[in-house]
Amino acid sequence: MAKTPNKILIVDDEEVIRNICQRSLESRGYTVQLAENGIKALEYLRQESFEVVFTDFKMPMMDGIELLEAIKRDHPHVEVVIMTAFATIESAIYAMKEGAFDFILKPVKPDQIRIVANRCFDRIKLGEENKALRLANEKLTELQNMKNKFIAITSHELRTPVSHLKGYVGILADEYAYQLSDQEKKQCMQVISDAILDLEEIVTNMHNLIHMESSETTLKSEKVDIAGLVQQSVSAYQLTARKRKQEVKVGASAEKLVVTVDRAQIKGVLNELIQNAIKFTPDGGKIEVSAQRDGDYCLVCVKDNGIGIPSSEQGLIFEKFYEVQSSDHHSSSKEAFKGGGLGLGLPSVRAIVEAHGGGVKVKSGKGKGKGTEFQIFLPINGQKKSRKGRQLNS
Ligand SMILES: Nc1ncnc2c1ncn2[C@@H]1O[C@H](COP(=O)(O)OP(=O)(O)OP(=O)(O)O)[C@@H](O)[C@H]1O
Ligand SMILES: [Mg+2]
Repeated sequence: MAKTPNKILIVDDEEVIRNICQRSLESRGYTVQLAENGIKALEYLRQESFEVVFTDFKMPMMDGIELLEAIKRDHPHVEVVIMTAFATIESAIYAMKEGAFDFILKPVKPDQIRIVANRCFDRIKLGEENKALRLANEKLTELQNMKNKFIAITSHELRTPVSHLKGYVGILADEYAYQLSDQEKKQCMQVISDAILDLEEIVTNMHNLIHMESSETTLKSEKVDIAGLVQQSVSAYQLTARKRKQEVKVGASAEKLVVTVDRAQIKGVLNELIQNAIKFTPDGGKIEVSAQRDGDYCLVCVKDNGIGIPSSEQGLIFEKFYEVQSSDHHSSSKEAFKGGGLGLGLPSVRAIVEAHGGGVKVKSGKGKGKGTEFQIFLPINGQKKSRKGRQLNS
């Protein structure tokens, strides 16, 4: 429905009143449409968009109150002004209670019509400004909450690796460090190297978050052997999984699949899902990653037999900073069961997959060991799609 700003509908069965109103309002730049009864008025309202209706009270077929009720029911944003003779002023007051903006006593005067119309549009403008302010305010509150959460979680996450670095570098730099055995020095170096990896992961997640928000990222369009990519990611996590006595393996893949994607981004997706599976699966658990064709899509599944995700939380885990377990369980040690993070991995996964024109699904059973399965659908032949600025190159 095309919308002309400042559009007024005049409804009156007397032609002379309609004409006075029209001349008076058009002389002030308003766009005016005339209707001789309520039925016609409702027809115009269905076809076009009006901000204000001036209606007579006493009309054949449908009176002003009936028209007001129909307008408030079907077009609640439209302001209604009742035009009435002194004899029916009580009905006009009733109309005000029913949501009319104002009433004008007949015989109508051109000045009076203009004044009421101006007030009406002032109120509409104020309402729109209020709405815009309310939305801006909600957005600010959301950003503020996110910032607070970001600071709380990030500082919590940073504290452990930073204190490890400080402590163990201190040991190695100490004047008695020469007394350390080779084995002890190696252990110190291992803790330092793990802490650096943790810090690197936090920085990567923060980087991904910024890119998710920005409109600069452009996806590459590369032909990728998806089974090879899965194998690479699984191999990269063998050592971590072994430390947790977990088995991470590639599931049977029906055929060799070449998919047009941004290789680095999809590798990041696989890594994130495998990392989550390792984190949220107890020691000794099993993780399987597979890739297969599903119509025009490539379906990649990362399945674990870990702690699972309650169904009430499954829609929330893709929100930034959302974590099912409380941040009290945070641990930067990736070897600890339920090692936490920033809650940025899955939002990033979804943004990347959707930017490829694909989608993400999660399935998780109730009860211990039922596990979780993330399913990633990617269009095999690539798909141009612009979302939050990301797009595939052709
Ligand atoms: N495989 C899984 N099993 C059980 N819960 C999971 C699994 N994957 C994700 N979750 C839940 O979803 C939450 C959000 O996951 P997400 O990857 O976004 O954050 P994170 O892993 O906690 O932190 P980050 O990825 O930023 O290091 C997790 O904190 C966890 O509660
Ligand atoms: Mg994660």
